[in-house]
Amino acid sequence: MANFKEEIEKRRTFAVIAHPDGGKTTLTEKLLLFGGAIQVAGAVKSNKIKKSTTSDFMEIEKQRGISVATSVMGFNYEGYNINILDTPGHKDFAEDTYRTLTAVDSVIVVIDVAKGVEEQTEKLVEVCRMRNTPVIVFVNKLDREGKDGFDLLDEIEEKMKLTTCPLSWPIGMGQDFKGVYNIYKEQLNLFAPNTKYGNILEFNNIMNPGLVEHIEQDAADTLRDEIETITEVYPKFDKEQYLKGALSPVFFGSAINNFGVKELLDCFIEIAPSPIEFSAEERNINPYENKFSGFVFKIHANMDPRHRDRIAFLRVCSGIFKRNTNYLHIRKEKKIKFSNPTSFMASKKEVVDNAYPGDIVGLYDSGNFKIGDTLTEGEILHFKGIPSFSPELFKYIENADPMKSKQLAKGINQLMDEGVAQLFTKNSNNRKIIGTVGQLQFEVLQYRLKHEYTASCIYSPIQLYKACWITSENKEKLAEFIRKKANYMAKDKENRDVYLAESKWMLQTAQTDYPELSFYFTSEF
Ligand code: G4P
Repeated sequence: MANFKEEIEKRRTFAVIAHPDGGKTTLTEKLLLFGGAIQVAGAVKSNKIKKSTTSDFMEIEKQRGISVATSVMGFNYEGYNINILDTPGHKDFAEDTYRTLTAVDSVIVVIDVAKGVEEQTEKLVEVCRMRNTPVIVFVNKLDREGKDGFDLLDEIEEKMKLTTCPLSWPIGMGQDFKGVYNIYKEQLNLFAPNTKYGNILEFNNIMNPGLVEHIEQDAADTLRDEIETITEVYPKFDKEQYLKGALSPVFFGSAINNFGVKELLDCFIEIAPSPIEFSAEERNINPYENKFSGFVFKIHANMDPRHRDRIAFLRVCSGIFKRNTNYLHIRKEKKIKFSNPTSFMASKKEVVDNAYPGDIVGLYDSGNFKIGDTLTEGEILHFKGIPSFSPELFKYIENADPMKSKQLAKGINQLMDEGVAQLFTKNSNNRKIIGTVGQLQFEVLQYRLKHEYTASCIYSPIQLYKACWITSENKEKLAEFIRKKANYMAKDKENRDVYLAESKWMLQTAQTDYPELSFYFTSEF
């Protein structure tokens, strides 16, 4: 089984996250270039590539120009099998990103040197912290004027609550950007816009007077001072701490110029975790276990517009997933096999015979899957950590075309399984309410109902503050609450009790009046 162990050890499955415009797409493309997964002349602008890369499956995405899809791009680099899970940067699709973060072993966060840590990044890193996911930070756009390096480190520590450890350090920025000193590898990397990745020179002692042969005296003095401060003030890099999510290496560079990206990637493959242990409700699952297990973290419809089918993205957690082999679909309590499971090697999808822990497999699905579903060789397992978050925006959804009520019901049902939005059905009158975290989700739902199910819907307003799941050991009190709040009670898709609070005050009052009840703000409790 040595082979199996090696296969796992050479896998690196991660996500790149950023506030929109931080440079996530550009960095991802440069990483793919290094892996030879895409071949694009340096002069091609990133948004041109964007239109043809794999993150562009949905028509809706093309129309809106934002990355709605969360796709997977695999490539090989220096003997490692790297899987990048792309995430939509737009905040309205944050839920999609949260779910993707449950399927990765580590994360690279991109920050714009001028803008610093922005809101969306803060939230996403919070999810990483909850799961102790190891985080590497890449400060991007050093070819532009931006914030001082130390101020940025302070900001990262304060806003993202990460303990930082710079592993590279910029020499100037903007017009005066000279390059970076690679602290990890003790190399000087001089910025040269038209080279593949700058000029790399071994330079293990920056006190060496020879430094001024490469950069001006002023820049050399500043660099020496700053590296001294880093050595004194910041913790030394410790891989164990990083792997526990307790220490975050920081790199500086300019993705568009392909500068600082190689340092990042080379260090990444060395230190980033190979597939980690996953927790199921029943027990923890070690990737090296012989028996296959995995879970669905994303469902994507119509990746190929000529076909109607959906693709369920499965993260392999343990064992080897094999083509044409029967696996137990835990929720459905039935065995299913897959004749055409696909892998995602950059722009092309390929049928795979075997997939290893850390791999993402695309399974053609005709409606069997929903997010969070588990497949095993027979053991009953339910993977944890794929919650729905309490929505913040609500609208009643109604049928706008009486001839198409069946299509509408089917569409809503399937799109909810995909996690496009959340559905609640009111106890009092069976009206259906759609809950989302962002306005665009309503539009995506409406658009997809129309284009994929030929169904029309209209929304009408409803004044709600929050939806929360409620439970109680005290069945009488629970029943009393449900009775008294009949107008504000609903069922979610799993038929669980949901309280629809009209205002913050109503929610607080309910919590005070009913201490016997537990109110939950994520669906996993
Ligand atoms: P995102 O996926 O995080 O939203 O960001 P994306 O990579 O699309 O980058 C956002 C913008 O920032 C793009 O400019 C991109 O070219 C630019 N950019 C990325 N990396 C760097 C860098 O290192 N330096 C500088 N100066 N700019 C960078 P755009 O105007 O939106 O598109 P484009 O027309 O330039 O492609």
